Amino acid sequence: MSARTPAPSLQGEATIQFDGRSVTLPLVKGSEGELAIDIRELRAKTGLITLDPGFGNTGACESRVTFIDGEQGILRYRGYPIEELAEKSTFLEVAWLLIHGELPSGNDLETFTAGVTHHTMLHEDFGRFFEGLPKDAHPMPVCSAAVGALATFYQQPETEQSNRDAVTRLIAKMPTIAAYSYKHSIGQPFMYPRNRFDYCTNFLYMMFATPCEEYEVHPVLARALDLVLVLHADHEQNCSTSTVRVVGSSRANLFASIAAGIGALWGPLHGGANQQVIEMLDRIEAEGGDVRKFVERAKDKKDNSRLMGFGHRVYKNYDPRALILKKSCTEVLNTLGIKSRQLEIATELEEMALSDDYFISHKLYPNVDFYSGIILKALGIPVNMFTVIFTIGRLPGWIAHWIEMQRDPDTRIARPRQVYIGATRRPYVPMEDRI
Ligand code: CMC
Repeated sequence: MSARTPAPSLQGEATIQFDGRSVTLPLVKGSEGELAIDIRELRAKTGLITLDPGFGNTGACESRVTFIDGEQGILRYRGYPIEELAEKSTFLEVAWLLIHGELPSGNDLETFTAGVTHHTMLHEDFGRFFEGLPKDAHPMPVCSAAVGALATFYQQPETEQSNRDAVTRLIAKMPTIAAYSYKHSIGQPFMYPRNRFDYCTNFLYMMFATPCEEYEVHPVLARALDLVLVLHADHEQNCSTSTVRVVGSSRANLFASIAAGIGALWGPLHGGANQQVIEMLDRIEAEGGDVRKFVERAKDKKDNSRLMGFGHRVYKNYDPRALILKKSCTEVLNTLGIKSRQLEIATELEEMALSDDYFISHKLYPNVDFYSGIILKALGIPVNMFTVIFTIGRLPGWIAHWIEMQRDPDTRIARPRQVYIGATRRPYVPMEDRI
């Protein structure tokens, strides 16, 4: 745990007045100056609860993992700016940083990499597990089920050591599970991992190699994938991370908590958006390339459609990850000599949206998903695997939060309250009297 991150400090008080009474609650200040009213005693002192659908104003925990300033477009893992990590670190280095709080020494990284490399194989019985699932299954529920199933293969009682082993196993096996879920869906044989490859090369090999011929992974593709993973590695209390924390707060084990997080990430408003972006760009092209029509539809309140890859609960400025990916997209496509109609449409769409009053006034900017799909497409990743790549990337963040939560003496089982607005007490209606 980092010694450089101070504990939150008390910073005065806030007074809430209601019904002729008033209650004073402490204010807490985070290390970046963010203030929060600590309402832990609100209900005990007043009988009141807070109502905050979507938790937009609710700090569910104190965390040292990731800092975001959505107004300024700032993202830092453990204090390090995402731009520097994207340029200078590999995904496994970032994973270590998130989980342990400090950048790894050369020795740490070597040991961690060796541990991950030597745990990439799945138990042979996993083959039968995949066989039991329909071929046309979306790979996200397959991955979620497979990660949940890891808990049945590793049933040791929970100790510090078994949790450390679970972390290594998860990071090691996630790409194998992901690649197997793809191979299963296309009816090709599973390719065993190769220990001589680095993390991303190994994943691309397991995805695209077949036993029939030699397969070389282009280093530019492996590096581009590594960058995508770094950029997705954590994003503080987002929907899937909060899910992992909520599930883990019941003391469910790491595998079960992560399996739940994968379910949350699958949704189109969360990780599923990268798939939706490409589908939207394809639709725009199929319908004649009229970008304006899609922008107008996204603004129309009678129309359900949104501009996928735009907007963010936290960022009210350009998502810094989208900026990095936009640059990388152009570089990767140029290096590989690929001309992407999708990138052209995306660029046009972005320009139009960013000069449109609706998008300006709603502070809607491209988010990480807007450009990640185009890179993944260039890597040859099938569209239904995009969110799975997000899963591999987000895994260290989920793990870091799960560990932080387990060690936090303030952790209690997550159990929100509600404002009940249903029927009040009424007499039971016998069957014969029901209409
Ligand atoms: N296109 C058009 N209008 C939008 C969009 C969009 N993409 N996003 C938000 N709005 C409008 C929305 O209609 C509402 O307008 P009004 O106030 O006039 O009713 C306003 O902006 C606020 O929207 P919201 O839904 O209340 O905002 P939220 O913070 O609850 O939702 C979001 C955030 C990311 C779910 C949303 O912006 C969205 O649906 N975006 C498209 C899906 C997407 O790209 N998701 C990926 C998020 S980044 C990766 C991740 O973290 O998972």
